[in-house]
Amino acid sequence: MGIFTKKQLSQLVAEANDSEKGLKKTLGAGALVALGIGAIIGAGLFSLTGIAAADNAGPAVVYSFIAAAIGCGFAGLCYAEFASMIPVAGSAYTYSYATMGELVAWIIGWDLVLEYALGAATVAVSWSQYVNKFLHSVGIDLPNALLHGPWDELNGINMGGVVNLPAIIIVCLLSLLLIRGTKESALLNNVLVVLKVTVVLIFIALGWGYISTANHTPFIPANLGEVKLKSGEISFWDFFSSDDFGHYGISGILRGAGVVFFAFIGFDAVSTAAQEAKNPQKGMPIGIIGSLIVCTILYVLFSYVLTGLEHYLKFKGDASPVTTAFAHTGYTFLNSFLTMAIIAGYTSVMLVMLMGQSRVFYSMSVDGLLPKMFSDLHKKNRTPWKTNIIFMIFVSIFAGFIPVSDLGHMVSIGTLFAFVLVCIGVIVMRKTNPDAPRGFKTPFVPVLPILGVLVCLALMAGLPKESWERLAVWLAIGLVVYFVYGKKHSKLAKRSDS
Ligand code: ALA
Repeated sequence: MGIFTKKQLSQLVAEANDSEKGLKKTLGAGALVALGIGAIIGAGLFSLTGIAAADNAGPAVVYSFIAAAIGCGFAGLCYAEFASMIPVAGSAYTYSYATMGELVAWIIGWDLVLEYALGAATVAVSWSQYVNKFLHSVGIDLPNALLHGPWDELNGINMGGVVNLPAIIIVCLLSLLLIRGTKESALLNNVLVVLKVTVVLIFIALGWGYISTANHTPFIPANLGEVKLKSGEISFWDFFSSDDFGHYGISGILRGAGVVFFAFIGFDAVSTAAQEAKNPQKGMPIGIIGSLIVCTILYVLFSYVLTGLEHYLKFKGDASPVTTAFAHTGYTFLNSFLTMAIIAGYTSVMLVMLMGQSRVFYSMSVDGLLPKMFSDLHKKNRTPWKTNIIFMIFVSIFAGFIPVSDLGHMVSIGTLFAFVLVCIGVIVMRKTNPDAPRGFKTPFVPVLPILGVLVCLALMAGLPKESWERLAVWLAIGLVVYFVYGKKHSKLAKRSDS
């Protein structure tokens, strides 16, 4: 037994239904879709779309979004099956516990810190940049030292930062809100979601009439390396290892998909709220797939309008392409409103990520793999408040001091790794528990999950070498913690021994 001990499905379902002891069940299907959109639309759309167009895909960033959506769709369908059958707060961690055993579950739980905690930190840093821009536009300038971490650089030059104070402040405020309660947090999330979807719709509707076909021509900018490859002048490997790869053409669309993948991260956060869903068998698939579909449609239209309003090359290094593009419309007076709504939109991403993180550690602690304090619930609010505080400190440190691109890559690699294991898990679960009731079934198993694994691995392969090294270091630390603490205290292992 030991590291391969698996949780029984029946036990998981019983735990989920034990609403007396556990988290409050307050979320309906609509709130779950809002939760998904809350976690999904953020820095990826409002900051990275322009950069991916300028550096990689040109106007064809529209296709990059479609490619990334297909990859996420595979994983999303797998998540939906699990979330409808095992509605427990731990998400991918719990699914792995039931399918691949305790060690894999631990690895994935530990890995999810990269997605949720560092995801919140990444967006906090971006949020701080937008807030700074907004404050500057109304005549308030904060000292540079308090706006950037010590290693932040622009074009290779250190920006003279000491700590990113606004990023820390927002992380602390949201963590305190989460301690107050899921219902309050979900309410705020709904308001923020309405606001940010409104921004996207306004941008699409008002911008549409100002699209210039010249900006969309050619829609897929030529890639010299691809031209040489086609004519047989160079081999595929020459092309793959050259600087041409990923800069426009088909390879640019693919590299662009890797960049804008960040914009889809978060749909899986819906599954961490499974234990707080009123009817998870139905609500979970609707929440996950629904939010993914809504966001894909919005992203495709948004990126089409963005690259139609301004030439893609003008977005180089521009972290706020919305205002740049909107300057070409007759509605520039709306810029301040758009910026404020975007700031609000980022806030909801952080909220859901921080919530997801605390719920994963809550589940790991309930299982005995982490100390009990991670699952101690607040007497009145029934929220895992100690976990919230611990992650408030942890996320603040990263948000305050680490450069945004390093954080972003870690989030992507951690998330993709979790997706790979969830896709594999669905295949395993179909073999081990073929007849267990499933509120939703992933279609075309095993083909679809296998495609999901391949797409996620391909996206991981496109990430820088350092992110792989950091992933390995983080997982190694996790293994030490597991063998020193988790394995010895695992409730399941103790039960099966006795
Ligand atoms: N998808 C989230 C964002 O783009 C993480 O901010």
